Amino acid sequence: MNTLSVDIAKALPFLPGHSIDAMQPALSEAHEKLLSGSGKGNEFLGWLRLPSSTDNMLLASIQEDARQLAGEAEVVVVIGIGGSYLGARAAIEALQHSFSPVLKKKGDPLVVYAGENLSEDYHADLLDVLNEKSYALIVISKSGTTTEPAVAFRILKEHLEKKYGTKIARRRIIAITDASRGALKKIADDEGYRSYVIPDDVGGRYSVLTPVGLLPVAVAGFDINELMEGARQMQHLCFRSSGLSHNPASVYAAARNLLYRSGKQTEIMVTWQPQLLYVAEWWKQLFGESEGKEGKGIFPASVNFTTDLHSLGQFIQEGTRNLFETVLSVEHPAKVVQVPPDPVNGDGLNFIAGRRLSEVNRMAELGTLLAHIDGGVPNIRISMPGVTELHLGQLLYFYEFSCALSGYVLGVNPFDQPGVEAYKNNMYALLGKPGYEEEGKKLRLKLK
Ligand code: PA5
Repeated sequence: MNTLSVDIAKALPFLPGHSIDAMQPALSEAHEKLLSGSGKGNEFLGWLRLPSSTDNMLLASIQEDARQLAGEAEVVVVIGIGGSYLGARAAIEALQHSFSPVLKKKGDPLVVYAGENLSEDYHADLLDVLNEKSYALIVISKSGTTTEPAVAFRILKEHLEKKYGTKIARRRIIAITDASRGALKKIADDEGYRSYVIPDDVGGRYSVLTPVGLLPVAVAGFDINELMEGARQMQHLCFRSSGLSHNPASVYAAARNLLYRSGKQTEIMVTWQPQLLYVAEWWKQLFGESEGKEGKGIFPASVNFTTDLHSLGQFIQEGTRNLFETVLSVEHPAKVVQVPPDPVNGDGLNFIAGRRLSEVNRMAELGTLLAHIDGGVPNIRISMPGVTELHLGQLLYFYEFSCALSGYVLGVNPFDQPGVEAYKNNMYALLGKPGYEEEGKKLRLKLK
C-alpha cells in the first residue's frame, strides 16, 4: 500500500468493549461539523481544502522564488515561531540528509532558523555564520506582531542591510504574513519586499500547506507539488466518509479519545528515525494548542527510539500508568546499511551479520511494542510507507484532520489558543512596554 494507515489492534485490549465502534456517532457529528463549517472556530477552516484548492500558479511562483533565493544564498534563515516555523522544519528535517550541514546537495542552500527563541548566544552564533556566508531571509508571522520573530528580524535585517546595502538587502528578504494587518505587513509594503499571504481563515498551526511551509521546503530543494499531491490524496480519503472502516483520521481520533476517557492522559509520539524528530515537535504543537484548554486535553509528548529507550524507556515501562504510545512507523527506509560479519566476533553480533540495520531497528520496534503493552501502555501505530514528499503530505494532512475531529469529539474549539497570551502579557509588562506600566509594577512585586 502506498498510503498511510492506522492500526489500533494493540490499543483495543485497553478499550471498553475492545472496540471503538461506540465512537462512530460522535465522529460522524464532528466530521459533519468540519465539512459543513458549523462547528466551533469555523472561521479557521481554510486549511481543510488547501490541498485541493491551492492554485498551481501559487506553487509555480513559490518555486520560482525558491530557485532565485537558492541561486544567490548559501544559507536561508527562516524566521518564525510556533505554527509559522514548525511545519517547515518538520518537513525539511524529515527529507534532508541527516548530516546536511556537512554534506549539502550542491545548489541547495542550508535552511537555518531564527525567531523561535530569544537566546542571545544562539543569535550571536547565527550572526557568526552569516558573517561568513551569503544569505537571505524568509520572515514569517501571521499576526506580524509576535515578539520573538520580530526581534530576530530586526537584528537580521540590520545585519543584512549592512552586509549588502539596503537596496540589495530588500531583494534578499521574502515576507509571509497577513493580507492586510500587522507590523510585518506594513514593513513589507514600505520596504517593497516580495511577499506571500497567509489566508485569514488558516490558523498558524494548520498553515504548513500555505507558503508558510511551502516556500522554505522549496528553498531546501524539495518537491512541493508532490507534498501537495500527498495531502490531496489524504484530503480525498478524509472527506469521503467519517466511517471507521475507511477514514484513518477517524480511527486515530476515536482511539485517542477513548484512551483519554479511560485515564490515559499523556500520549507519547514514538519515532524510530531521528529525521522525524521535528515531525513530533510539529505534532506536539498541533495537538497541544488545539486540545489543551478548558481544563481538558491529552498531553502530547514525544520520544525518539532507540535513543530514548535509554532515558525515558524505564518510565514508560514501569512508571505512572497514565500513558499511551502512538508509534510513527516507516515501512521502507530509503537507504541500505548492513551489519558486517566479523571473523573474531568479539562483540558476539555475528547472529545479525548480513542483516540490514532497518531490520534490527524493526525488531527493536516490535520488541518494545510488546514490552510496553505488557507494561500496560496501549499502542496505536501509524505506518507511513516511506519518508518522501508524497508520504509527508499525506501525514501532515492526516494529523491536521485527525486533530480537528479529535478536538470536536473532546468538545473544545481546536482552532483557538487563548492560553498563549498569558506569558506574552507578563513579558511585555516586565519589559516595560508602554501601556503595561501598572501590570509591570504588580508583577515585579510578585517576583520579590
Ligand atoms: O498556531 C498558532 O496560531 C501559533 O502557534 C502561531 O503560529 C505562533 O504563535 C506564531 O504566530 P505568528 O505567525 O502570528 O507570529
